[in-house]
Amino acid sequence: MKQQLEQMLKRALEEISGADSNEYLENIRVKYLGKKGELTAVLRTMGSLSAEERPVIGQIANEVREKVGAALDGARALIQRHEADRRIASETIDVTLPGVRTEFGKTHPLTTVINELCDIFSGMGFAIHEGPEVEYDYYNFEALNVPKDHPARDTQDTFYISDNIVLRTQTSPMQVRVMEKQKPPIRMIAPGRVYRSDAADATHSPVFHQLEGLVVDKGVTMADLKGTLEFFAKALFGDDVSVRFRPHHFPFTEPSAEMDVTCFKCHGKGCPLCKGEGYIELLGCGMVHPRVLAGCGIDPEIYSGFALGIGLERIVMRRFMIDDIRLLVENDMRFLRQF
Ligand code: DAH
Repeated sequence: MKQQLEQMLKRALEEISGADSNEYLENIRVKYLGKKGELTAVLRTMGSLSAEERPVIGQIANEVREKVGAALDGARALIQRHEADRRIASETIDVTLPGVRTEFGKTHPLTTVINELCDIFSGMGFAIHEGPEVEYDYYNFEALNVPKDHPARDTQDTFYISDNIVLRTQTSPMQVRVMEKQKPPIRMIAPGRVYRSDAADATHSPVFHQLEGLVVDKGVTMADLKGTLEFFAKALFGDDVSVRFRPHHFPFTEPSAEMDVTCFKCHGKGCPLCKGEGYIELLGCGMVHPRVLAGCGIDPEIYSGFALGIGLERIVMRRFMIDDIRLLVENDMRFLRQF
């Protein structure tokens, strides 16, 4: 029996030294040390041994168990180390390789200008609103004192979604939307995209941007309009610009005006850019028409207000010396990367 045990030990150690996976080692463990394993089978027959032999064989059997167990542990550790080595070798990072470059985005020149205008007006306490580009005829025209068949609609032909839904031609409908929801005092601006069915050329685009402004409160006068807009023009173009107001007509303001600023190039002397005028038109404005106030449930006997509308593309084009409006919507990266 002693011989049997020694041979068993020899075989087990040989098998263990040839093992290359934990799975295989586990099979070896079960084969020798398991409940139905070879060593257990030998121990079961110990009852047939003499009283002198029993402790000797018992001790050998224990030694076999310990040696096989220790060999298994050693082999497991080795396999684990090999696996770790393999993983480390396969996962090495070559820090000298060129990295993946992250492209930083930039704001579109239009966004830059919109952000700047929002800063200036919010500094004066104006709230910023946004509204739908797909708009009801009612908000875009009717509530702004432009009934169906009014000639003012001719200059603002647009894209019709249905008889009473259009792509808005101006940001002015935001005046009505805000006045319907909010009681005075109101001080708000609304920048956004607008549409007209114009053919695209260097100075026209069927899609462009405006910024609307509205102030409604008790006792608001034309002096407030002029003071606010002059402050705005100086904040935008510098303290040395001066402004002038020319009478104009808009259906939703009375009286109405256009505000010009001194030409950036000749500072008022007259040059080709301003066509000899010395001034360049910047925006439309006026005192909110009593009919518009009343239509929004605001009593024109108690409240008054002023409104303004600025076309943004022209400001952007002058600021960045862009000579074709189409560049602003074409998303050509060669163009956009310059800003
Ligand atoms: N909505 C006008 C347009 O697109 C611009 C405008 C003029 C807006 C006068 C106003 C205003 O709020 O008071 O031509």
